[in-house]
Amino acid sequence: MSGLPAGFAGRVVRWQRTHGRNSLPWQNTREPYRVWLSEVMLQQTQVSTVLDYYARFLARFPDVRALAEAPEDDVMALWSGLGYYSRARNMHRCAKDVVALHGGEFPGSAEVLQTLPGIGRSTAAAISSFCFGERVAILDGNVKRVLTRVLAFDADLAVAASERELWSHAQALLPTRGVAESMPRYTQGLMDLGATVCLSRNPNCLICPVSDVCAGSRNGNPEDYPVKTRKLKRTSQALWLLHARNAEGATWLEKRPSKGIWAGLYCLPVFESRDALQSVLPAKARPHLQDGESFLHVLTHKDLHLHPVVVELGGNALGTGQGGWFAGGDWGRLGLPAPIRRLLEG
Ligand code: ADE
Repeated sequence: MSGLPAGFAGRVVRWQRTHGRNSLPWQNTREPYRVWLSEVMLQQTQVSTVLDYYARFLARFPDVRALAEAPEDDVMALWSGLGYYSRARNMHRCAKDVVALHGGEFPGSAEVLQTLPGIGRSTAAAISSFCFGERVAILDGNVKRVLTRVLAFDADLAVAASERELWSHAQALLPTRGVAESMPRYTQGLMDLGATVCLSRNPNCLICPVSDVCAGSRNGNPEDYPVKTRKLKRTSQALWLLHARNAEGATWLEKRPSKGIWAGLYCLPVFESRDALQSVLPAKARPHLQDGESFLHVLTHKDLHLHPVVVELGGNALGTGQGGWFAGGDWGRLGLPAPIRRLLEG
């Protein structure tokens, strides 16, 4: 690794002012609730997708107390389609903790913010640097890419000690002058560089404000960073979905357990085999199953091969779990996994 690059923070700050993103709806506010909401939504989701969800969420839950007091089902329903549902559940728990433990005000430092559900070290630093101008480093996936390239940091980030070392470099690179004003811009600037210039493939070094001090660019191999050996192991799973309809055309939906795929959302009953699905049906319904069109749904770590099976039933409850019959008009207000919503809505 080469030494710390001279003038790095100042270059990022100046570039952000003229070339960064400055009019996203969660910018130009220092209200921690709004910043927190955006940072959690942006953790695994692109800006273009987050825009609509962010607006709807704020309209329905304008402040942390409104969110804390909302029923979990309402929170999940508004999150439906964004994926990574543990974020929504943690967010709801976090809002309750802010009200119960911190008098309804978000804590004013990254150190304390990190103690709240769903707020990790980098998210805590983003909130605190944006809202309070705290001099504290973020290090999300995009920023790891920028910093490992600038520093030609070639240690394996799959190793915890290497990641710790990168955190301390990130801290050492922070602005030292006019910290209260420069920290929000520096943090946003790093995010913007990672998202628009220092791309995983074909980084645009020609327009990069830090290419002069970037060891990766100077050595002509920026794409060799970051180094991370442990590859995610992808798995695949087949699941059968019981699409039961009653005489009124309503569909049986039940709430998923609080752990595992689609935790806490409403869903068609899910089975690991067609036999298991059949076994919950009355014997007289079994000859009348219709296999729907199978489809693939790709999660981060898993390919789901989903096999819908349609059956018409009388109005009785299914003995599969905590559920009920829901007419088409009810689906909008339920938290449903995106592929299930698409299946139901045809
Ligand atoms: N990704 C994470 N935080 C972000 C932010 N504040 N602006 C744009 N993209 C982001």
